[in-house]
Amino acid sequence: MVIARTIEALREARASLGGSVGFVPTMGALHEGHLSLIRRAREENVCLIVSVFVNPTQFLEGEDLDAYPRRDEADIKICELSKVDILFMPTIDQMYEQDELCIGAPAVRGYVLEGAKRPGHFDGMLQVVMKLLNLTQADRAYFGKKDAQQLALIMQMVRNYFMGVEIIPCEIVRDSKGLALSSRNIYLTAEEKKRALSLSQSLKKATEMVMAGEKSTQAITKAMETMLESADRVEYVAIVNRAFEPLQEVEIGNTIILVAAWVGKPRLIDNVWI
Ligand code: PAF
Repeated sequence: MVIARTIEALREARASLGGSVGFVPTMGALHEGHLSLIRRAREENVCLIVSVFVNPTQFLEGEDLDAYPRRDEADIKICELSKVDILFMPTIDQMYEQDELCIGAPAVRGYVLEGAKRPGHFDGMLQVVMKLLNLTQADRAYFGKKDAQQLALIMQMVRNYFMGVEIIPCEIVRDSKGLALSSRNIYLTAEEKKRALSLSQSLKKATEMVMAGEKSTQAITKAMETMLESADRVEYVAIVNRAFEPLQEVEIGNTIILVAAWVGKPRLIDNVWI
């Protein structure tokens, strides 16, 4: 495995790869959720590139950029064991210059839900993903459905800018109790972990209601909110279509039910695609 810490080293290593290239971008502190993306990318491509870069431009003032978990040594080991060909671990200086040209999230889809709670987050996320996709020149890039709005916006960027990479959405990975895996889960105490289960349980309830024939998004939202009372603060429960437009009625095959809530220190998100 080549560990590339500069753009030059990445370009050189990339030039030596032959055959299809899969790419998994991450912010490190790799867990089973990332591993499921890495495994899938490994299976579906001849070569595999993983990036570990805690991207400062997608954190807002006062967010956890400095405290964001960093586990470089463990991440290197995991990538080696996962037969990654190139691990790209750039510094901030390698990735950014002063007064950059920026790309912005779309005015509506980029500013609802996560975009409304974290204005500017998606601009920074798209900026770094554009850079990483351009640098890696991958055939396929793998993203988790857990960050559903991120995934939808990346797909839109690829479509709008006619980029030649295929974006592969991957299923959410959960622990045995149902908690969606996230690097931020390490902030949870045992007691908070139990309360954090209310997110996935509320989504399970929503799915059961839909399976039992309930279509009204208002009724489903209400039932979910009741179940989320054990979270410290619910930021939103939303039922939208795949283009992130709000729905009055669930449309099977075109619905995402999302929740964001604070439990203890971390802000958690989860969703289900129906
Ligand atoms: O989902 C993430 O970990 C990040 O947003 C990404 C896609 C690696 C960009 O920094």
